[in-house]
Amino acid sequence: MTRLIIRNANLYTPLGFKAKCGTEMGNILHVQNAVIVADDGVIVYAGNEAEMPPLSDDADQEIAIDAAGRAVVPGFVDSHTHLIFGGYRPEEFSWRLKGDTYMSIMERGGGIQSTVNATRGMSVREMASKALWFLDRMLEMGVTTVEAKSGYGLDKETELRMLEALRLLAEDEENKVDIVPTFLGAHAVPSEYKGRTGEYVDFLIREVLPEASRLAEFFDIFTEKNVFEIEDSRRMLQAAAASGMKLKLHADEIVQLGGAELAAECRAVSADHLLHVSDAGIKAMAEAGTVATLLPLTAFALKEEYAPARKFIDAGCAVALATDLNPGSCFSGSIPLTIALACIYMKMSVSETLTALTLNGAAAVDRADSIGSIEPGKRADILILHFDTLDALPYYVGMNCVDKVIKNGEPVSV
Ligand code: NIG
Ligand code: FE
Repeated sequence: MTRLIIRNANLYTPLGFKAKCGTEMGNILHVQNAVIVADDGVIVYAGNEAEMPPLSDDADQEIAIDAAGRAVVPGFVDSHTHLIFGGYRPEEFSWRLKGDTYMSIMERGGGIQSTVNATRGMSVREMASKALWFLDRMLEMGVTTVEAKSGYGLDKETELRMLEALRLLAEDEENKVDIVPTFLGAHAVPSEYKGRTGEYVDFLIREVLPEASRLAEFFDIFTEKNVFEIEDSRRMLQAAAASGMKLKLHADEIVQLGGAELAAECRAVSADHLLHVSDAGIKAMAEAGTVATLLPLTAFALKEEYAPARKFIDAGCAVALATDLNPGSCFSGSIPLTIALACIYMKMSVSETLTALTLNGAAAVDRADSIGSIEPGKRADILILHFDTLDALPYYVGMNCVDKVIKNGEPVSV
């Protein structure tokens, strides 16, 4: 058995095996001079040095790390990314700088469709090797689990290849980040189905869902005006649930459409974006226990108002934060900038931000029972920061403050 012992840790962690809701998000454990012990990648002790019980003596190998008083937190869970994609879209960014909108570019055949055109020619290996570069950058910023979506194929073959690429990455020894695969075949209506949204939904349900549901754990849909509106979304979500998939929605991102209410109605695990959510939608999500996954980098890049994080928290919702890394609306996987924006503009406290990126991120991918906090029973995905207090998180504006990443109880070189 391999034992990890971290000493002299300034430990900060939420506690628990399910999402923290509302003001509970701000309650985190802080222990100075803490010791953390993990056996074969599972935490067996985290707390005061003085109160540590005697350790069993059956360790064959011991990895000892001196945290030297620096802040130690759980590995981050980036619970919303579009990690696999062909090409890039820098020209769209410049058009937006000159006044174009995200939706007007999409409506004239650019946007998601232009990434679809570039992705359809890619092999599974090409997809995976391109994504590996991003996974390495994420790991450096402390991401130990990532959710990743298909959604740039919009035909059966490419959607399945994207999901296979995620499986390849999950099994690749070179990749250290755990991957949660999501099927997002309903990301847009592809050009060959233009004006025939209902028929595209029928095609997804009949032809793609049966196989996609074997490769992906979650189903996601872009519920939006002029994309998949409420009735088509409900039909797709019900079919996905019936095929055994857990649900997520891109909801109320561009306009208020009732996506949050639909997420609650379908008992979705999370609804994401929510820049234009209604008060009724917030209430419904709080009641349904649907995690609100907020993506401040996208609001920043689209020059939109940030999602109303405080309203969600005051209503008793669980809030998660994620990057939305994608080649269009937000070409960034920056965890440091996500944290800074959440604290500066969304008025989240540093403790709430930590919970949102760890335990609640884990809940957003249905993993809160095994990751997202530093306590006995959880997997030893642990970060040592470059600074001695948690305040480093927003203070390092857009700069990485993660010094060491420990994955499954072993330090990884990044
Ligand atoms: O989360 N809005 C839909 N999907 C992505 C953007 C995808 C793209 O522009 O390529 C989002 O913002
Ligand atoms: Fe997204």
